[in-house]
Amino acid sequence: MKIISMLIVAYLIGSIPSGVIIGKLFFHTDIRTTGSGNIGTTNTYRVLGHVAGTVVMAMDILKGTVAALQPTLFFHMDNRYTLLIGLAAILGHTFSIYIGFKGGKAVATSAGILLAYNWEFFLIASAIMFTLVYVTSMVSVASMTSFPIVTLIAIFYYRDPLLSIVALVLTGFIFYRHRSNIARIKNGTESRVHFGLGWRR
Ligand code: G3P
Repeated sequence: MKIISMLIVAYLIGSIPSGVIIGKLFFHTDIRTTGSGNIGTTNTYRVLGHVAGTVVMAMDILKGTVAALQPTLFFHMDNRYTLLIGLAAILGHTFSIYIGFKGGKAVATSAGILLAYNWEFFLIASAIMFTLVYVTSMVSVASMTSFPIVTLIAIFYYRDPLLSIVALVLTGFIFYRHRSNIARIKNGTESRVHFGLGWRR
């Protein structure tokens, strides 16, 4: 019963559509109708600027962390439950009950559950992600390359079977959620981050 309640709460927390809320509250803009139409950090940054993008990134990471911390914080359960409960928050983020079971691409909220499980692993994953954004200038490419790298680190460096399986599942899910980006990368229309000058197509 405890587990089911936590899974439901995690799903409801993960469902909070940060990008939609920030866009509507402060910019009178529905992020779903502009840019790539995605509700995550990248599209918020692209359409509403770096302050809004940073706030949405923090909120999306934080909702994964808060949802995933329930077992250890409230029930003193084993840290491994963090990842299990956190997966429900990722499902909430991508299939949000508040916006017709649509949602984001799972990158920031996945990072949030990694933070709840192992902050050091989160820092390594974030450093890899930001380096790849800088090198490739495409957030989608950085997202899709950082997760396989992070999975290899979980397998060969941390040697943590549960973390490795979760990272592998997240890698597959993130590729699945980036189908439209993969199509744009193939036909050369994917947006690029142009550091210092905003975004360019
Ligand atoms: O995390 C989402 C990012 O990888 C791509 O977002 O808006 O370019 O589809 P977007």
